[in-house]
Amino acid sequence: MCGIVGAIAQRPVTEILLEGLRRLEYRGYDSAGVAVLNDNNQISRTRALGKVAALTEKLESSPAIGNIGIAHTRWATHGKPAERNAHPHMSNQRVAIVHNGIIENYEELRVELKAKGYNFTSDTDTEVVVHLIEMYLTQGQSLADAVRETIKEVRGAYALGVISIEQPDVLIAARQGSPLVLGLGLGETFIGSDIQAMLPVTSRFIYLENGDFCVIKRDSYEIFDDAGAIVEREIKESNSGMCTAELGKYRHFMHKEIFEQPTAVQSTLEGRLNVNDLKHCVSGDNIIETLEKVEEIQIIACGTSYHAGLIASYWLEDLTDVPCSVEVASEYRYRRRPPRDNVLFVTLSQSGETADTLAALEKVNTDKSMLATLTICNVAESSLTRESDYTLMTLAGPEIGVASTKAFTTQLVALQMLVGLLIQAKGNAPEKVEEIVNNLKKLPILLEQALEKDAEIEKMAEHFIEKHNALFLGRGDQYPVAMEGALKLKEISYIHAEAYPAGELKHGPLALVDSEMPIIAVAPKTGLIEKLKSNLEEVRSRGGVLYIFADKAIAMEEKDNIHVIEMPEVPEMLAPIVYTIPLQLLSYYTAVFKGTDVDKPRNLAKSVTVE
Ligand code: G6P
Repeated sequence: MCGIVGAIAQRPVTEILLEGLRRLEYRGYDSAGVAVLNDNNQISRTRALGKVAALTEKLESSPAIGNIGIAHTRWATHGKPAERNAHPHMSNQRVAIVHNGIIENYEELRVELKAKGYNFTSDTDTEVVVHLIEMYLTQGQSLADAVRETIKEVRGAYALGVISIEQPDVLIAARQGSPLVLGLGLGETFIGSDIQAMLPVTSRFIYLENGDFCVIKRDSYEIFDDAGAIVEREIKESNSGMCTAELGKYRHFMHKEIFEQPTAVQSTLEGRLNVNDLKHCVSGDNIIETLEKVEEIQIIACGTSYHAGLIASYWLEDLTDVPCSVEVASEYRYRRRPPRDNVLFVTLSQSGETADTLAALEKVNTDKSMLATLTICNVAESSLTRESDYTLMTLAGPEIGVASTKAFTTQLVALQMLVGLLIQAKGNAPEKVEEIVNNLKKLPILLEQALEKDAEIEKMAEHFIEKHNALFLGRGDQYPVAMEGALKLKEISYIHAEAYPAGELKHGPLALVDSEMPIIAVAPKTGLIEKLKSNLEEVRSRGGVLYIFADKAIAMEEKDNIHVIEMPEVPEMLAPIVYTIPLQLLSYYTAVFKGTDVDKPRNLAKSVTVE
């Protein structure tokens, strides 16, 4: 999704801006651009369709040098990916802006601005913003006031960076809905969509809040809240370091991140696996007292995080008496649910910035309909962590590949901790908490053993290169694992894939089974293994080709149309986590063989900060 970087310094900023854009590439984008105010006080703008590397090449042949500038990676929403739609957008060579978000009333504003003589050169919603600012500048307003007047007129979500030849020593930033962070250097100041963009130049950050408006100079800044009052926002020191965005020996971040899972899980567990001290996994006051009152859990998430929620609902309902519903955020936020008492509202998110998940949380915060809110999130200081009563951090480290891998497995670990805490709070079955903790201790080793299947799975993936469809099967808590497997294959290899609970086969999907449709099944040893085996026999007897990740106990013979990869023996509750690994590897190698852009699949974004 769109990424913003901006800088005002005593040194040339173009290279800082480009490096910032490279560090935001993981979010997904289709074009990029940069604008700096040069020595002649002109705006020098360069834009390119495609990668930041293409923009860099353009700048090498025609450099833009200046000490203040803004830059952007665009993920198309209004107007197709094209150079003319790439940001920064400009008006009359006087002002340039970068924008993340969506301006909802852009059509009416466009008509009004056209009537006033403004000439539009793009199909974007953003261009109305830059012309409005220019219009107010023409009326004699300062740059800050021109931007203030403009944002009074626009509806929707925005993070904005603005520069103008009228005030070459000022960078304006504003946030409503879309995230924006200030980076404080020594005698220089930066803005970025996230801290990744600015880590090479500073480790001190201010996370802007909704409605914040900033007037930034080289060595000072002022932040105004949505009522226009000057506010102090806390400065946070980051210890994220910069080394994480390195590929090392891996060809793709996704492969690296799949292999980082034992370590990511270990970090998430580190120092937290003391049965008597589990409550310290969660930040926020009196978690146990809150959980004692909980009568229901509502989980909200998107994409891969939603699948983690589905898996957890099996655990929660199996081990506690607390009912649990799971819903995708984009549906939940727009529908009415009958009021219920004592509901714990849990959001799951890698980024903590997904627009729909955040909007769902804002909705329940506004109507105060929940007992408490808790987020399981991988990014400290993200919007979700700041707006939830409780936070349970996954410590997976930055995830760069658009397709989520280590964030998912660490979310499942965090969810098991939450299950343990709920059992403790409810005072039932303390031996179950011990079982959860003891199982989790074994998890990093079991993940290592699953990763040893890498070469075998690479070979298996060759069978998928020419396929157009695939069906994933699982039962019980392995059904959402199958859903996640299907999502991974779709996302990065562009093969259409669907997941079914295996018991549903005969209600429709069996009609699709033939030698062209690979059927992938996850078959750990659980109470449902015999049922699953019968379902797989139904496929076999109809000539279907099966790819089974199975515990020894399933004893399915490897034959021409049955390919079996034997998985390590795992405790039942860890099976969804361990069996996710081979599905990630299968999608990864299929995508590599097909030659897709594995880490940045077409049309997708890592951090979906617009609705
Ligand atoms: C995008 C990403 C997915 C991710 C989903 C939810 O679609 O491409 O990998 O699962 O957003 O993101 P979140 O950060 O909220 O987990």
